[in-house]
Amino acid sequence: MVNSLFDLGGRIALVSGAASGMGRAMALGFAEAGADLVLADINTEGMEDTASLVEKMGRRVLPITCDVSQPDLIREMFGQLDQEYGRIDILGNVAGDGVLARAEEITIEQVQKILQSLIIGRFCCCQEAGKRMLAIGKGSIINIGSLASTTALGRGHIAYSMGMGAVVQMTRELSTEWSGRGVRVNAILPAQVVNAGLKARMETDPNLESTFLSGIPAGRLGVPEDIKGLAVFLASEASTWITGTLIPMDGGNLAMNAGGSVGPPLIPGGN
Ligand SMILES: NC(=O)c1ccc[n+]([C@@H]2O[C@H](COP(=O)([O-])OP(=O)(O)OC[C@H]3O[C@@H](n4cnc5c(N)ncnc54)[C@H](O)[C@@H]3O)[C@@H](O)[C@H]2O)c1
Repeated sequence: MVNSLFDLGGRIALVSGAASGMGRAMALGFAEAGADLVLADINTEGMEDTASLVEKMGRRVLPITCDVSQPDLIREMFGQLDQEYGRIDILGNVAGDGVLARAEEITIEQVQKILQSLIIGRFCCCQEAGKRMLAIGKGSIINIGSLASTTALGRGHIAYSMGMGAVVQMTRELSTEWSGRGVRVNAILPAQVVNAGLKARMETDPNLESTFLSGIPAGRLGVPEDIKGLAVFLASEASTWITGTLIPMDGGNLAMNAGGSVGPPLIPGGN
């Protein structure tokens, strides 16, 4: 039984990046709190797994294979959402990826690809969800940024950091334009959360995990499930006067002012 402040019963949530990691955890968290879901990802198989877990909880779920760097595909997906549910209450803008390359060497095409996904993709999802939420005077948007949104990592993440920095300003601007009309927009800024890519890199470089941990006073890396409680809180009535915020989910990294870590620059290989 969910405390009524956190109850998402009857709400419709769209979560991108729902095939794995924090997107999957967020989608499952919303479903556990009672929401019905639209899932979006380019990884159809992983998303189907998430969908079957949601269904097992007795919730409705509509998985849509969608590259959320492509505005046309995003608009199509929202069209499907309209047909299936006729409304959206919660958006989790989670999907994303980076590229590791030295700032002096990265190609403009690589930069454009990352910015297209993190900035245009996130914005287009906010715009489509925002229009629908403004029409009913209510909604909650949760953008996933990164500690790289506010702190320089200095290790080959230039395109990712520029994109994630924009996600922060997108969040503040949209909150300021929309919160008076009932639509809240917040961002979660995670530090290192173990996912398949990070795990592979830590296996390749034996110093990487300890470098990360040296910047995390809580003494462990994040796990995708760490996002569940915070996401449900931001989506729910428990946070009705909270908007435009950037919430670190980082085991104390930002408070320590450690950035990505306190190790030496780790390019090539990056982290
Ligand atoms: N893991 C971390 O340490 C960390 C830290 C800060 C921020 N983030 C951000 O959090 C978000 C989730 O990361 P994660 O750790 O859960 O990673 P993950 O790799 O487990 O999940 C990312 C998901 O997004 C999907 N995806 C990628 N590009 C897509 C696209 N264009 N369209 C649709 N789906 C797409 C992938 O298929 C995957 O399922 C990402 O935006 C990431 O940049 C991650």
